[in-house]
This record gives sequence, C-alpha cells and structure tokens, in this order.
Amino acid sequence: MSKAVYLLMENFKVISHPLIRHKLAVLRNKETTPKTFKAIIGEIATVMSYEALGDLQTKEIDIVTPICATKAEEISDEIVFVPILRAGLGMVEGVRDLVPFAHIGHIGLYRDESTLRPMEYYCKLPACIADSRVLILDPMLATGGSAVAAVQMIKDRGCKSISFLSIIASKEGVNTLLTAHPDVMLYCAGLDEKLNEIGYIVPGLGDAGDRIFGTEVEN
Ligand code: PRP
Ligand code: URA
Repeated sequence: MSKAVYLLMENFKVISHPLIRHKLAVLRNKETTPKTFKAIIGEIATVMSYEALGDLQTKEIDIVTPICATKAEEISDEIVFVPILRAGLGMVEGVRDLVPFAHIGHIGLYRDESTLRPMEYYCKLPACIADSRVLILDPMLATGGSAVAAVQMIKDRGCKSISFLSIIASKEGVNTLLTAHPDVMLYCAGLDEKLNEIGYIVPGLGDAGDRIFGTEVEN
C-alpha cells in the first residue's frame, strides 16, 4: 500500500509529534533497559489514548466550586481497555493514568513460531463490553494476525465501537487489520516498511514482550 493511500484512509492515524518520535528512538535502541522501555511504552500509550478518545460523549452535571454552583461535564461513555498479553500489559498503566474509571479486559494470544498464526489462551472481558468504547492495546502490529483475532473476539461479544492502539505497525499489518475489520479505527506512533523472514517488524524494536519483561535471550 502506498503512502498516499494511508493518508486517504479515514480509519488509520499515525500520531506523529516530535516528542513521540524522540520516545520511539529510545524504544528502538537495543541498549534501552526494560525499566525505561516499559516507562516509555506507557507514556506513548497515554498520548495515543488521549488522541483516540477525543470524541467521547459527555453529560451535564451540577457541581459546586469553592465560589458558587455551576454546570460541568462528565464522561458518559463506558470505556474498556483490552491489552493483548503479554506486551499489551505494558500500555495499561499509561492509559489508566488518563482514564482511571475505565474497565480493563484481557486477551491472551501468542504467535505460533512456525506458522505466525495467533493462538488464543485467555479471554476475560467485562460484562459491559457490548455497549462500551473499546480500545485494544498491543505495542506491535506485525502480520496483523493477532490484531484481527482480538478484534473478532470482541465483536463476538456484541461490541461495535473498537479502536486499536499499536505503537509500531508494519504496512502489511495495517493492511491486514483494516481489510478484515474496516470499521475499526487504528492508531499507531510509528509505521515501518516491512517484516523479516521470521515475522519481526523491520526496523521495529525487537520482541516487545521480552523487552518489557526482560526475558529476551541473546543469540
Ligand atoms: C507479539 C505482539 C503482538 C503480536 C504481533 O506478541 O505483542 O501480540 O506479536 O504479531 P502479529 O501481528 O504477527 O500477530 P507475541 O506473540 O510475541 O506474544 P508475547 O507478547 O506473549 O511475547
Ligand atoms: N512481535 C513483536 O514483539 N515484535 C515484532 O517485531 C513482531 C511481533
């Protein structure tokens, strides 16, 4: 898919800001420690969720300031964040800082190393999910297989408002997700050219789960 086509897509947004590009450089650097890596994943997730929730519904409420009674607004939408285990967990603290009243569901998927197909091992979603604004969290959108499966699991529970927040996406992953689920709004912070022969994003940042949790093995 060409760059021009991405710019024309209404349901895909690359969040590009000098601070985000600076933080992406730290994430991509292989010398970055797991502690810093996890902290920056959270910081970028905060900004992405702020962007993705810009059209939330509010309702009018009455409050009293130290000076007088007045009208104010509070969010009326239910919001559910769904991290894809493991790496999506790294984004939860950042989005919860911004939306402390959100519900959190969990989807467990891992990629089969030989087929790269997503394998489901866990799913726990809040009862309110069908009528909620759902934001799926996963730092990496590579082949797109895990994202397509996670969106389907949430649609199967009746949800109609789904956004997907990935910190680094491959062009192939974007294409695969939005072809399978054109009604999903996709946000990323970095858009990378390609995948290597074992399905890793190039240049990417390596295995996000391993880098958050410090489980990577030196070859
Ligand atoms: C990573 C990542 C995504 C998936 C993306 O998870 O966090 O969930 O790969 O790849 P895809 O777009 O090709 O499906 P992984 O399977 O490595 O599991 P982990 O987070 O438990 O390490
Ligand atoms: N999962 C990751 O963590 N990194 C990649 O580059 C691809 C899939």
